[in-house]
Amino acid sequence: MNLSRRGFLEMNAALTASMQAKVAANDRVRVAFVGCGARAHELMAAVMAHPQFEIAAVCDAYTGRVERAVDRVKDTRGTTPRTLRDYREAVGDKSIDALVVATPDHWHKAIVLDAMAAGKDVYCEKPLTYASKEGPEIIAAAQRTGRIVQVGSQGMSSMTQVRAKELIQKGKLGKVTMVRAAYNRNTASGAWIYPIPPDANPQTVNWDMFLGGATKRPFDLERFFRWRCYREYSGGIATDLFVHLCTTIHFLMDAKMPSKVTAMGELYRWKESRDVPDTLNAILEYPDGFTVNLSSTFNNESSAQASFTFLGTEGTVSVGWGELKYWPENVREDNRWIVESWPKKLEAGYWKDPKVQASELAALGKARLIDGGMSWREEGQDPTIVHFWHFLNSIKTRKPYWEDASAGHHAAACAHMVNQSVRTGRLVEWDSAKDDIKG
Ligand SMILES: NC(=O)c1ccc[n+]([C@@H]2O[C@H](COP(=O)([O-])OP(=O)(O)OC[C@H]3O[C@@H](n4cnc5c(N)ncnc54)[C@H](O)[C@@H]3O)[C@@H](O)[C@H]2O)c1
Repeated sequence: MNLSRRGFLEMNAALTASMQAKVAANDRVRVAFVGCGARAHELMAAVMAHPQFEIAAVCDAYTGRVERAVDRVKDTRGTTPRTLRDYREAVGDKSIDALVVATPDHWHKAIVLDAMAAGKDVYCEKPLTYASKEGPEIIAAAQRTGRIVQVGSQGMSSMTQVRAKELIQKGKLGKVTMVRAAYNRNTASGAWIYPIPPDANPQTVNWDMFLGGATKRPFDLERFFRWRCYREYSGGIATDLFVHLCTTIHFLMDAKMPSKVTAMGELYRWKESRDVPDTLNAILEYPDGFTVNLSSTFNNESSAQASFTFLGTEGTVSVGWGELKYWPENVREDNRWIVESWPKKLEAGYWKDPKVQASELAALGKARLIDGGMSWREEGQDPTIVHFWHFLNSIKTRKPYWEDASAGHHAAACAHMVNQSVRTGRLVEWDSAKDDIKG
């Protein structure tokens, strides 16, 4: 065949394009969304930021959410996902590669297990579990089926947290023995009192589908749309917010699980709307040599909404929304006020000691330059988009990312230990052999 140079180039370009299309088609990951609520819509945007993901199907217990999910995919991609009446249709559909689970917490385990049994990978929103004992079951299923499970505490995919981990693991802070983390809010929506869509009624809301295995109750739109306020579907602040804090702490500190947890929780303000506390304080002791203070109030947000402080013998790291600060300790020994109470002769002897001179007198009369540390601000991709990049990568390489079933189980189990301590008024211990709460 005689080809002109131009014809050759055109053919080559067409061939490359068709090869790329083929590779893209082969590599395309077809995803079904189970639960298309507020978070799922953010997740859908993050999923569609990756050309290789295709949202092929959507499923929700309220028709309005399905309608908006279909619109979102159409508006962004120009394609129409299949709408499913039940998540089991996604599980049974061989053309679906992965499920994104963003239902209320009491549904997570069943959907994750069914998806894996059908050979699908799963991205499950945090908390992975509704009860601690579900964790080992999910981990075992992931191992048995070789499926990828990634859990959705996306903060650990932010650059600030990755850099904070580097600082801590490289020893820049010396020995970290204490971590403080908080999550505070002061609005009705922050306290999960979300607006209820005006068209919600027994025709548009599938109440039985929402309830699943939970206690049978009469139709109730507040429970349906504000499920985090009720223990039957959620663990409240602990499983909604502390779980994010614990994921980050485990990631940065390279830690797995506290050995002991004690906590107190109280409902001071939003009494009519819930059966879970609006104020929660917890102490978690880790066998790795550090202790964590977690606290949350829904009654004031003047201190940081979500923040961490890692306190080390040589320095401190604080992590906030897209912000990271490091500062060294700049400490100085000073025993003057103690030895000035000694007999004069003994005090004079104290100051003559060369060790004391080196530590307490060397800087006397000299100005010091205090190292103010460093700070960073994060720009660019939203961590949720990066988190889905990790998921995509895991699907291809078959290697789970850091926030796998085990990491998800342990972060959620911390929250369950906190809740158990609040309920029983007792210290709760971890059984590492059982990989579950002791007792
Ligand atoms: N990673 C984060 O930052 C983040 C933020 C918010 C929420 N979340 C998590 O996302 C999940 C969803 O939270 P949300 O705020 O979107 O709640 P939501 O109430 O807005 O959405 C949940 C949706 O699930 C649907 N649903 C209930 N039962 C179902 C079933 N059996 N099958 C299919 N759909 C069902 C409901 O109709 C609802 O639309 C929770 O696990 C929550 O903890 C994570």
